[in-house]
Amino acid sequence: MPFNHNDHYHDLLLRELPAGCRRALDVGCGTGAFARKLASRGIEVDAIDTDAEVITAARAQAAPLALPGELTFQQADIGRVSLPPGTYDYIACLASIHHVPFETVRKLREALTDGGVLVILGCYQETTPADYLTALAASPLNAVCRLMTFLRERLTGAGPQPPSAPVADPVMPLAAIRKRAAAELPHCRVRRLLFWRYLLVFRNERRTRATQ
Ligand SMILES: C[S@@+](CC[C@H](N)C(=O)[O-])C[C@H]1O[C@@H](n2cnc3c(N)ncnc32)[C@H](O)[C@@H]1O
Repeated sequence: MPFNHNDHYHDLLLRELPAGCRRALDVGCGTGAFARKLASRGIEVDAIDTDAEVITAARAQAAPLALPGELTFQQADIGRVSLPPGTYDYIACLASIHHVPFETVRKLREALTDGGVLVILGCYQETTPADYLTALAASPLNAVCRLMTFLRERLTGAGPQPPSAPVADPVMPLAAIRKRAAAELPHCRVRRLLFWRYLLVFRNERRTRATQ
C-alpha cells in the first residue's frame, strides 16, 4: 500500500516555484516523479541520483512522455558533481538531504540564481515529545491514506511498481536542523509537516541585497 509521504507533499513544494522559473535541479531524484512534474510545467530540469537502478527507471518512465521542459537524469553524487554558480531558479531535495552532510546546502545555495529558491522536504530524527505527538496524530490519517491508495490502485489497476529508492535513517533532530539551517541559509523558513517531514524554504536574495 504505497502511500508515499514525499509524493504527498509535491503540491506544497510546487507552490514555492519562483515566478518565471526556467531551470531546476532535483537532488536525489529517485525514480523521478517530482522531476517529471517540474518538466511538465515547461521547466528545464536536471535530476541527479547516485543510484543506477532508480536513474534507469526514471529515464524509462520519462521516455514516452512528451514533456514541454527538457528533463535530464544523471547518475551523480551531489557531493562530487560540479554545479555552476547562479544556475538554477529552483533546487529541490526530497527526502535526500539527510543522505549527505547538511553543509551540502552551501553548494546548493551557490548554484541558485538571484531570487532562486531552495526547497528541502526533509526527514528528521524523532527525539522530543512534540515529535512523538506529531507521529501519534499522523498515524490514523496515515492508515486512512494507505487504505485509500490501496483501494484506488485495486480499482484503477496500478502499473508495474518502479524500484524503491534507497533510504537512510535521519540522524539530525529538528532543533539541530533549524539551527544549522539558520546559520547556512539566512532567513530560511523551516516548518514541521504532519507526515514525518519538515519543509525548508530558502529564497536567495543575497546578491539583490548586496546591490541595494
Ligand atoms: C529516500 S530517497 C528519495 C527519492 C525521491 N526524492 C523521492 O521523493 O521519492 C533518497 C534518494 O537520495 C539519493 N541519494 C543519496 N545520496 C545521494 C547523493 N550523495 N547524491 C545524489 N543522490 C543521493 C538516493 O539514492 C535516493 O534515491
